[in-house]
Amino acid sequence: MVQQVPAPGPQQCHDLDANDESLPLLQGLMHSYGDISRVQSLSGNHDSLVIHNTDDIRHVLLGNRSNYIKGLALNRVRVLLGNGLMASEGELWARQRRMVQPAFQTQVIRGFAPLMQRANSDLIGRWAVQAERGEPVNLTRDLSELALNIVLRALFSVDLQRLIDANGASPFDLLTRETRRDLAFAAKFRALAHLVRAMIESRRKEQRIEMDLLSMLMESRDKDSGEAMPDRALLDEVMTLIVAGHETTASTLNWTWYLLSQHGDVEAKLYAAITAAKAVNPEEPDTENAYVEQVLQESMRLYPAGWLLSRRALGDDTLSGYHVPAGTEVFICPYLLHRHEAHWEQPEAFDPERFAPASVEARDRFAYLPFSAGPRYCIGTTFSMAEMSMHLSMVAQHFRLQYLGSEPPEAEFQINLRTRQDIHMRVVTR
Ligand code: HEM
Repeated sequence: MVQQVPAPGPQQCHDLDANDESLPLLQGLMHSYGDISRVQSLSGNHDSLVIHNTDDIRHVLLGNRSNYIKGLALNRVRVLLGNGLMASEGELWARQRRMVQPAFQTQVIRGFAPLMQRANSDLIGRWAVQAERGEPVNLTRDLSELALNIVLRALFSVDLQRLIDANGASPFDLLTRETRRDLAFAAKFRALAHLVRAMIESRRKEQRIEMDLLSMLMESRDKDSGEAMPDRALLDEVMTLIVAGHETTASTLNWTWYLLSQHGDVEAKLYAAITAAKAVNPEEPDTENAYVEQVLQESMRLYPAGWLLSRRALGDDTLSGYHVPAGTEVFICPYLLHRHEAHWEQPEAFDPERFAPASVEARDRFAYLPFSAGPRYCIGTTFSMAEMSMHLSMVAQHFRLQYLGSEPPEAEFQINLRTRQDIHMRVVTR
């Protein structure tokens, strides 16, 4: 019989959110209470549930998804991104998702390969000079610039270059210069929306359609009404794509290079896989190499950029047999799930073989959620995998990266899982 009782949890109250204080708390809860625990909020307004059981996760993200909207943790995101896909709900979200989705189809993303390739060639050129001089590179900063450059060029193509020519630099560089994501940053970032508005107006005036995401979003039509996106929605989607497309990719690559620098065997295998594929077919795109993908997947297992997902129950529900009252905040923690001993042997070890096809097949799909799952899974999954694969393949053909820190990098658990300090690497030419 279903127990309509609340899930177990501590007496003390806490407000869970995507910040550094939450991880030790979440680890403690998992240790004391297992796969489901309940925490009362300081305000007493709502309880939070933390769930690690894959059936419960599947239920929240997929089976009973209409009962769950984005949770309190998204409020901070909303200030920065407005009501774009990351934060919107209901009909607005469904309409916008339908209209944005075509811009993220595989064929469209293939069309961005040349710009990804150019950005990486430029980076390789700069690193070659630094390698020659024996100068270390600031990996974190360089990857942040690379990922920002790629997403901005995919969005704005020629208009980005015009902006750089007119200003001497890209006004969006703010995103790499400043790492805090507080209210002051949100205000500065939102102020950049006028640049996007000006691009939209100039394209309309000149009846100009470019081969980029902005034009695709401007030309997209709702299949029911035949209408274009209202300007407010268009701006929110563009601002969302800039942030969502930049920070997650940059920090994933940052962690990946750190992991490779600590695992010479994996790094050697990666290099062998890339050169073997090139030997068989020199034209093989750098975006499609199975082992490169396995390395990225394993890196996102240990360091999922979206380390904590939050939802709120609209109506009463039941999870693991416990009562979930309407208004409960539900947290899913990919960081802990990806290290859960029920799904991963020696979870702390870095081992890309876990993502060999047979192992993936044998595992519960909901044990691995770097891009979330269900209808709100990351729209940029294919884009970022292509971008990250291209980067790893191109760079690994030229260099090995040696970590220069004396201690492992400290992780910073904010909205995004970053390294707290920039990572510096020695670049060794092959
Ligand atoms: C390694 C790279 C990336 C990771 C790990 C990642 C992760 C995620 C995760 C976990 C979510 C779900 C958040 C939630 O449910 O609360 C998400 C949603 C989203 N991501 Fe990504 N992302 C990445 C790259 C990108 C890129 C390149 C773009 C766009 C250019 C993008 C755009 C979005 C958008 C718009 C959403 C909201 C989708 C919706 O709710 O319909 N992401 N991402």
